Amino acid sequence: MEQARVLLGRVRAGRPERSLLLTGLRGVGKTVLLNEIERIAQGDGYHTTLVEAHEGKSLAVLLAPQLRRLLFELDRLAGVGHKARRGLAVLKSFIGTIRISVGEIDIGVDIEPEPGAADSGDLEVDLSSLFGAVAEAAEERGAAVAILIDEIQYFSSAELGALIMAMHKMQQRQLPLVLVGAGLPILPGLAGLAGESKSYAERLFSFPNVGPLHEPDAAQALREPIEEAGEKIEPAALQEIFRLTMGYPYFLQEWGYQAWNHATDSPITLQDVHHTTEVVTRRLDENFFRVRFDRLTPREKQYLRAMAELGSGSQRSGDIADTLGMIINRLGPVRANLIKKGMVYSPSHGEMAFTVPLFDEFLRRAMPEFEGTR
Ligand SMILES: Nc1ncnc2c1ncn2[C@@H]1O[C@H](COP(=O)(O)OP(=O)(O)O)[C@@H](O)[C@H]1O
Ligand SMILES: [Mg+2]
Repeated sequence: MEQARVLLGRVRAGRPERSLLLTGLRGVGKTVLLNEIERIAQGDGYHTTLVEAHEGKSLAVLLAPQLRRLLFELDRLAGVGHKARRGLAVLKSFIGTIRISVGEIDIGVDIEPEPGAADSGDLEVDLSSLFGAVAEAAEERGAAVAILIDEIQYFSSAELGALIMAMHKMQQRQLPLVLVGAGLPILPGLAGLAGESKSYAERLFSFPNVGPLHEPDAAQALREPIEEAGEKIEPAALQEIFRLTMGYPYFLQEWGYQAWNHATDSPITLQDVHHTTEVVTRRLDENFFRVRFDRLTPREKQYLRAMAELGSGSQRSGDIADTLGMIINRLGPVRANLIKKGMVYSPSHGEMAFTVPLFDEFLRRAMPEFEGTR
């Protein structure tokens, strides 16, 4: 949050600062943070948009309606100048090239597309022009724009490359447009970047890692809301919740919630926590783990189960293949699909890790029998 405040403050003052891409496993609080950063930006007078990327939805289709809304907002601001109208014209030519159904996002009949602006069909060029037009419109009215994008791992290398080049242009021209993204660790699109956009990515973006909380922070996260409600929780109970959750926010939330519901009086004790373990485990299995697990094919499940057999950390692809009794090359497609589905990522060459914390424990529960070779 501090980094975001600095970014927002500096860009508004016309100074360069790195865009933020929050990365971390599922359930660590990236989306919560992104919402908070949007709130901070709005408090700072930014015009904001927060979008969530999806598999199979292109960056252009995702952003066009949002930029339209921002441009209309900017157009309504007090002040002279026509750059918001020009931004809409540029957006109209951009939409022409991506062929979004016009009914879906109607720019308005009184605005003519601006030929030659954002309509080359090359996303890298067009997105830069479009961001430029939006940011100029903001600048003209003394405003600033923040674009927040969640689940950014779904973007292709071409799309991420275009975003990076567009932000490069924003920085060069010191335009008031901020980008904050969030996604899984090791964005696949980023790994596929080459040449110029790769080196820009490193210079223009900072990648803060959002992870589990340390024990004092986890304890505070549990204790504070309990004390605000005039009740107490024993240190031993806090320790046990930390041990079970390893400090992952989603799990802390769930254990805290159930411990509170189960305790008959204050303080909440270690015993209360013990009593909630079964129901929390069931709820996590149903609401957090199952939804991901049920989307997998039997072969994908087997692959993950073999990983779980090896433990919780990152595992060597060769060891996973051995555990399955298979040749490593034949596992390539399964591995690629699991990465695409966001179940695993490759923290370094030849290594695989789960994107969901404590997923290994879940797999051993869900698939107690494992017919591996060891
Ligand atoms: N700062 C926070 N305050 C309260 N709950 C939080 C906080 N951060 C995370 N959580 C809990 O963790 C869950 C997962 O957070 P989320 O932002 O959805 O994670 P991610 O986007 O990283 O997958 C939230 O639904 C909430 O229960
Ligand atoms: Mg999220």
